[in-house]
Amino acid sequence: MAKIVVIGGTGLIGTKVVAKLTEHGHEAIAASPNTGVNSLTGEGLAEVLAGADTVVDVSNSPSFAPADVLDFFTTSTRNLLEAEAAAGVTHHVALTIVGINRPQNIPYFAAKTAQEKMIRESAIDFSLVHATQFFEFVGSIADISTAGDVVTLPGALIQPIAAEDVATAVARTAAGDPVGDIEIAGPETFGMDEFARRALAFRGDPRTVVRDDTAPYYGARIEERTLIPVEGAQIFPTTLEEWLPLNPPRG
Ligand SMILES: NC(=O)c1ccc[n+]([C@@H]2O[C@H](COP(=O)([O-])OP(=O)(O)OC[C@H]3O[C@@H](n4cnc5c(N)ncnc54)[C@H](OP(=O)(O)O)[C@@H]3O)[C@@H](O)[C@H]2O)c1
Repeated sequence: MAKIVVIGGTGLIGTKVVAKLTEHGHEAIAASPNTGVNSLTGEGLAEVLAGADTVVDVSNSPSFAPADVLDFFTTSTRNLLEAEAAAGVTHHVALTIVGINRPQNIPYFAAKTAQEKMIRESAIDFSLVHATQFFEFVGSIADISTAGDVVTLPGALIQPIAAEDVATAVARTAAGDPVGDIEIAGPETFGMDEFARRALAFRGDPRTVVRDDTAPYYGARIEERTLIPVEGAQIFPTTLEEWLPLNPPRG
């Protein structure tokens, strides 16, 4: 039984990772500001990491303002890696995003790229799980692209995945030996506009979704294949049609 500390263990993915690791007999500890552990300030880190074998980082920045998100992922990752080295942790697992190394101009992706670089350059063996967009994200994607009753999104391809499947991949990775980089994705590829259109239609949302390939995604123009995995990604089974009935809009 390994001791596995899950930074961000109270979040969407983290809660599920802790549950899955616990079900499989590991000592999984949810660590976040709500449990007295703050990776940004370092508070509680040394204490929670004492005796830990593995750290899983599925935390997220409370603010997505470009400077805040860059500060969150770099400061937090630096604090974690230092505390892990001091505690003798042998495996650092982080959840990151497919395609952020490709040309685009999204500040959140730049912050995650900086996080990845620090992890690769550290002396601790690592696994970086690169996931595509979560199904759970569909409401936010539509909302930030809405003007009046119209949602305008590019037809750039995505291959979204259920949070439950992401958590399965992260938990399996955390329970195993370090693997370096892996990509995970859902079973279907469609345009970002189609993703939103299907979800809004299912939910009876009156907004119309319009495709405009010049429309921004998180403030930036993305190319058709920026966000989909390269060959060799692990494909998880849950489809959007299976997921939608079980997941009403998040309030
Ligand atoms: N959204 C996507 O489509 C997508 C795709 C691929 C990868 N990802 C990545 O997935 C990861 C997890 O996302 P999520 O949606 O599960 O996040 P989330 O639900 O927003 O949860 C964020 C977690 O981070 C914790 N946290 C915030 N500030 C912290 C701090 N200073 N120290 C320690 N923990 C802190 C929160 O703790 P409290 O509850 O105590 O506030 C919470 O547990 C992110 O790194 C994201 O980049 C997302």
